Amino acid sequence: MTLPDDLRCDPTDPAGLLAEIARRDRIINVLMNQVQRNLNNPDSDFALLQTTFVLEEEVRRRTEELEQALRALEQATKAAKTAHDRLDAAISAIAEGVALFGPDDRLLLCNETYRRLWGFGPNIVGASFETLLDEASVRYKRMDPLQKQQRLDAHRNGTGTGQYHFSNGQYVQIRERKTADGCIVGLYADITELVDIQAEALRNEKLASLGRLVVGVAHEINTPLGIALTAASFLDEQTRIFSGVFAANQVRRSDLENYLRSLDEVTGSLLSNLRRAADQVKSFKLVAVDQSSDAERTFNLRDYIDEIMLSLRPQLKKTNHIVSISCPSSLVLRSFPGVFSQIITNLVMNSLVHGFEGRDDGHIEIVVERDERKLTVFYRDNGKGMPEEDVEKIYEPFFTTKRGQGGSGLGMHIVYNLTTQKLGGQIDCQTAPMAGICFTIRLPCLAEDDDVCRIA
Ligand SMILES: Nc1ncnc2c1ncn2[C@@H]1O[C@H](COP(=O)(O)OP(=O)(O)O)[C@@H](O)[C@H]1O
Ligand SMILES: [Mg+2]
Repeated sequence: MTLPDDLRCDPTDPAGLLAEIARRDRIINVLMNQVQRNLNNPDSDFALLQTTFVLEEEVRRRTEELEQALRALEQATKAAKTAHDRLDAAISAIAEGVALFGPDDRLLLCNETYRRLWGFGPNIVGASFETLLDEASVRYKRMDPLQKQQRLDAHRNGTGTGQYHFSNGQYVQIRERKTADGCIVGLYADITELVDIQAEALRNEKLASLGRLVVGVAHEINTPLGIALTAASFLDEQTRIFSGVFAANQVRRSDLENYLRSLDEVTGSLLSNLRRAADQVKSFKLVAVDQSSDAERTFNLRDYIDEIMLSLRPQLKKTNHIVSISCPSSLVLRSFPGVFSQIITNLVMNSLVHGFEGRDDGHIEIVVERDERKLTVFYRDNGKGMPEEDVEKIYEPFFTTKRGQGGSGLGMHIVYNLTTQKLGGQIDCQTAPMAGICFTIRLPCLAEDDDVCRIA
């Protein structure tokens, strides 16, 4: 064992050794305290050096963090710019005007079509909706304060929807909606051309149904008039023969009796056929006049439905379809009979053309019920019905499953417009494939008195 050189005792004396250990222990303690004090003293070289190390380490770490943040920021900016460019490209590719307003109602972005549609200049981003509304209304449609307030409210609630007709003849369809974060997205479409086409198509469909009616009239009247003509010719012939006999002064009692008998028979048939023709002319005239002129008058609904059915006889006659009608016979309406005629005609034609396609034993049921407040018309057929995805589109103008086969896709659109706009009612359609179709038409009844129900 080696001993330290500066041992201050006898190495063989245990007590001396213990004293020496205690002495050295004290020295170490003193030294340790000294070191601790140095560490805590910021002015000491040792502490400074250590602080420098710590600071350097901190600076290096923060620099690294900042560099990382900078790279993330660059990436985010790039992604945001790409997203913005894409959004810009997307909204400029949309044919409709598009605008996005922030929760503070200021314009955040819009496309060129939006600017063009309302005649705005290039620097409108940041403008408030109200300012833009004022600017547009000077140019297109003056609004009174109430109208303006309603428009503003609708916009702010994200419920601004509707067709607007401007003083320059333009029609614009507006659809606005609120996003989850309180912005308003608006789509603005110039539908002037579409409205013109629809009006034109509506006129055409009216003319076509009038045309069908004329063909029906001609067809129906042809039969009784033909019979009457034959009878009259027969009478003419008999009269000529009898006149000859009479002129020759050779009239026998039996000649006179024969002549009188045929006169009796033939005038009977002549009268009944002419009456039939006259009746038909009368009812067709009613339907036809109503269809073209849309006049309001008082009429018995049950009788009127019968007249409509008469005008549809040519279409129904060649088939075995059954039409049953249930309507209180005392029900008198003050309304537009032409509208009822058009609605029922379109529904029946659709049952024949679509519902009963390829079959001959269909059943149509028309049930009319009246209570104090409303008139309900149920129209049912037991035809092939419609798949769900088509039902949604049934009232859309130009929706038809018979394009190129005579379908215009306007029949149900007209029914819808007449029901909702002209008669102020609602129409609802229930159907499924192979389950027939049922339309429920509810019309508010503005009672004039107990007997007459005013609908308009
Ligand atoms: N009674 C019905 N049964 C089955 N489908 C019908 C019936 N009525 C209408 N439809 C469907 O609705 C579509 C739209 O009808 P409509 O507007 O009258 O146009 P169109 O008769 O010219 O096709 C039809 O093409 C047809 O597919
Ligand atoms: Mg149709």
